[in-house]
Amino acid sequence: MIVLVVRNYEEVSLEAALKVAETIRSKPDAVLGFATGSTPIGCYRELIRMHRMEGLSFSKVSTFNLDEYVGLSPDHPQSYHYYMFQNLFNPVDVKRDNIHIPNGVAEDLEEECRRYEDSIKQAGGIDLQLLGIGRNGHIGFNEPGSPFDSRTRVVKLSEQTRMDNARFFKSLGEVPTHAITMGIATIMEAKRIILLASGEAKAEAVSKAIKGPKTIMVPASALQDHPDCLFIIDKKAASLL
Ligand code: GLP
Repeated sequence: MIVLVVRNYEEVSLEAALKVAETIRSKPDAVLGFATGSTPIGCYRELIRMHRMEGLSFSKVSTFNLDEYVGLSPDHPQSYHYYMFQNLFNPVDVKRDNIHIPNGVAEDLEEECRRYEDSIKQAGGIDLQLLGIGRNGHIGFNEPGSPFDSRTRVVKLSEQTRMDNARFFKSLGEVPTHAITMGIATIMEAKRIILLASGEAKAEAVSKAIKGPKTIMVPASALQDHPDCLFIIDKKAASLL
């Protein structure tokens, strides 16, 4: 694991966008794994700027998102489909056919999970996976207790995660109880992983992920075994290191 500590959220976003852009420039048909949540928004904003001002093209890129809420259709404003189109895909030139996000309203969710794993394999695996981190150390929606050999599957969200994400919904009751997420093993197969974290609220999770024992109770601690994993975090998120 390499840890890059920068001053603030803006620098986290800029550094992350530079790494994504570097990947696309060296491999225009790169397979990129994207994350949602509030943390990557600044990175996506910077990528949109690079697309507009510097000619960064996503036209050959394929994308795979980490997760999606079960029960939210792609046009639901809190779905991760909606988020990705609003925050990155609409303003850039990525091809619709190359975008992959788990379908949280699939009739057969188990089948959807299998299909998702297959499509990652068919694409040749993920070259660069972006991650955020939950306050309880979750990555994607792999909550504490998720086995390190887990694959894409339906999971139950912890109450802390539902409460943390309730700020995006009208009430806690509207936050879905389940999600589809890539598993820890799916994430660990990405050739390169970059985890972003900003703010004091993430300091404990970041410190446990980097310095703590490898345990399924801190899903991000699995990353200690990844051969090419970079944490880009600001001073506040690094305050307990
Ligand atoms: C959600 C997502 C995660 C994300 C986490 C943290 O639960 N499934 O992928 O990392 O939230 O979000 P935020 O960046 O808003 O703190």
